Amino acid sequence: NNYCVIMSGGIGSRFWPFSREAKPKQFLDFFGTGRSLLQLTVDRFKKILPIENIYIVTNEAYAELTKQEIPELKSSQVLLEPLRRNTAPCIAYAAYHIKKMNPDANIVVAPADHLILKEDEFASVIKQALEFVSRNPILLTLGIKPNRPETGYGYIQIDEDKVDGINKVKVFTEKPNYELAKIFYESGEFLWNSGLFIWNVDTILRAFHDYLPEISNVFDQGVDIYCTPEEQGFINEQYAYCPNISIDYGIMEKASNVCVLGADFGWSDLGTWGSLHDISEKDEEANVTLKCETMFFDSSENIVAMPEGKLAVIQGLHDYIVAESDGILLICKKSDEQSIKQFVADTKLKY
Ligand code: GDD
Ligand code: MG
Repeated sequence: NNYCVIMSGGIGSRFWPFSREAKPKQFLDFFGTGRSLLQLTVDRFKKILPIENIYIVTNEAYAELTKQEIPELKSSQVLLEPLRRNTAPCIAYAAYHIKKMNPDANIVVAPADHLILKEDEFASVIKQALEFVSRNPILLTLGIKPNRPETGYGYIQIDEDKVDGINKVKVFTEKPNYELAKIFYESGEFLWNSGLFIWNVDTILRAFHDYLPEISNVFDQGVDIYCTPEEQGFINEQYAYCPNISIDYGIMEKASNVCVLGADFGWSDLGTWGSLHDISEKDEEANVTLKCETMFFDSSENIVAMPEGKLAVIQGLHDYIVAESDGILLICKKSDEQSIKQFVADTKLKY
């Protein structure tokens, strides 16, 4: 009864210029292992569930890329969205589809673009979580111990009350501003939301009816159509009626039946160049080199990523991102990396 839904339709714009609209972060091989983040995600779940129960939801623009990267999935296991509507509609679509296949499914929802270092711990936490949601009508999220007041994450306040041995969530706050993130972090009462969710299909469908009826109304019209040849046509026509909203704002912040399981499996969401710098191997001056060759002189705390075979010689540079890919060279102060989203927008017309 256990299924996995990999969300693989984002554009990863904070990782520009490596992550591009035509080939976003999840399709890139960041570490030179020969496997992209999406492939690594599938590899990780193949050890936990039967491969027939792994689904990928992505934009139709990435259908070909997905097929090339993951040839072992049947095309019926790749659900295609005609346009970007963020994670709530993506999760709803997968839930309605899987419910039709198996009305008693337990589902792990996972991002396609995260790094997990400790695979065995990961597998055992996921198994425990699936067990738990098969017994309890709970929306379960996995929480990570924070190490800084990062504003790009959801924050989860742990309640002392437990359900079946797992702590309830007192408050879920998606992407707080810096002042609030700092208070949360310093209180020691909060975990970061890892973006991995586990629930029984009925529990999440009930939550959509309660908190996002605009979305469940759209998908309810298709109950006779899922898993038939008419499904794609129905989705292509109806998907645009879904509001653009993430699961975090749409459901996790509002629902009262949310629990959190603290987990420590070497998680990084590879959200930004800085987070990649944090977890990568560094030289004595804390410089990180990806793919290319580098020579550093009086330079520290940089991350340099250029195509294989290139050499970067760098002098007197501290705390910078230097990244070249596909005709674009980015040089940006690491502490200002939130502006990268803006550069993407500004250069869009030309590149
Ligand atoms: N199929 C599909 N369609 N996938 C999508 C879409 C979409 O429209 N939008 C985003 N995704 C995928 C992304 O590719 C990524 O794998 C995952 O869904 C999460 O989306 P992000 O856009 O990366 O979310 P976030 O990082 O801002 O925030 C989420 O993750 C954080 C941890 O990394 C939230 O859940 C936060 O609460 C959490 O802390
Ligand atoms: Mg993310």
